[in-house]
Amino acid sequence: MSRGGKRPGTGRKSIEGKEYRIKIEDSQIEQLELFFEGNTVSEKIRTCLDYGIKKIHEKQPIMKDSYTVLDLFSGAGGLSKGFMDAGFNVVLGVDFDDAALKTFKANHGHAEAMKLDLFNHSNVNKLKEFLDIKDIKLDVLVGGPPCQGFSLAGKREELDERNLLYSAMVKTAELLKPKVVVLENVPGLLTLYKGKAKQQIINDFKSLGYKMDVQVLYAPNYGVPQIRKRAFFVGILTEGEYNFNFPIPYLDENNYINCEQAVSDLPSLAGCEDYSLNVVRDYSSKPKSDYQQMMRSNSIEVYNHIPTRHEEKTIKLISMVPEGKNYKALPPEFQTGFKYNESLTRYHSKKPSRTIDTGHRTHFHYKWPRIPTVRENARFQSFPDDFIFYGNKQQQYKQVGNAVPPLLGKALAKQVKELLENE
Ligand SMILES: C[S@@+](CC[C@H](N)C(=O)[O-])C[C@H]1O[C@@H](n2cnc3c(N)ncnc32)[C@H](O)[C@@H]1O
Repeated sequence: MSRGGKRPGTGRKSIEGKEYRIKIEDSQIEQLELFFEGNTVSEKIRTCLDYGIKKIHEKQPIMKDSYTVLDLFSGAGGLSKGFMDAGFNVVLGVDFDDAALKTFKANHGHAEAMKLDLFNHSNVNKLKEFLDIKDIKLDVLVGGPPCQGFSLAGKREELDERNLLYSAMVKTAELLKPKVVVLENVPGLLTLYKGKAKQQIINDFKSLGYKMDVQVLYAPNYGVPQIRKRAFFVGILTEGEYNFNFPIPYLDENNYINCEQAVSDLPSLAGCEDYSLNVVRDYSSKPKSDYQQMMRSNSIEVYNHIPTRHEEKTIKLISMVPEGKNYKALPPEFQTGFKYNESLTRYHSKKPSRTIDTGHRTHFHYKWPRIPTVRENARFQSFPDDFIFYGNKQQQYKQVGNAVPPLLGKALAKQVKELLENE
């Protein structure tokens, strides 16, 4: 017969006020170093404990029964955040960038983060080991391989070896046979080298038995306050005929979420001289739009909202640029010396933002003479305010700019879920 109650010596009284020696495995020390703040090991352990306790309070169930997702080239994990919000069980994010992995881990519930260089295809075996040990069958593989080689923004080199990184996704699909594969990239990829790049990706997955569909999705149509287009390849492992139903737009130009609706409740930072990275601020007002309400639903304070110092000359010039215009709208005598077409772009308060990039200092707030903060960019990308970014400021801007907007990811993920449920 078993008795209820705690075993003697395991209750709160037995540990209160006592000092403990605990043995920490080498692998755990590595994880502590990587993921938890603190100047000393003790401080890191305390942060780790706080984190664990917070997670219990969030009562996030381990979703054993929901479809599993692995995110390759995860970055901060905007795409998989969308899948998480659609009810998927994100189990792992993989990248080779420490700061991005730290952000991923802190914001994806129970998911693990793994540092791997995916140039080295033998590393893909480590993913199988991870899933086997945890007895996880993978349902969905998602990934946004680096797009510089494909991008219209970067140098387009047919032989840029970064183009070959997507083949780590092909190898992973071959090894793990997930039912669905989602590969995201810039739309320019579809027409690159007269469509050869697109065809090669399709053929590679087809040869593994995937039926492929491709579509460019426009983020404002799915509630994202930002002009951003992304191409999605969706592959389904099936022997029969199947056409993937890409999500139907639910907003049009007349009701897109605009910059003001996205960020007007955040502190202006006018006159703020505090540039320290970890400062947490209060909201400057109650939510002023449904979008702000949604972004704040799990948050009571503002992280990653740090101003950038600009030269007096820049402040003067941007104040002369009308909303929605750039340096070309300045009087001719002020128009010299700008390198980019979009230099000194000031967002329009009543329109979605321009495409958020990885941190060029060319786009400015619609109202304040400064570039948007990481948090403002995160809002334009539809990351909720409780999604906190780690690393230095440059790394944070990069993570935000690289990401698939979670709301766009969620719209796509719902369609993937429908597909899996109808199987
Ligand atoms: C476009 S971002 C992915 C963004 C992500 N899908 C999201 O929604 O947040 C590409 C990522 O690939 C990672 N990456 C680049 N080369 C890599 C490599 N050789 N091995 C692993 N990750 C790599 C970068 O660090 C970057 O985070």
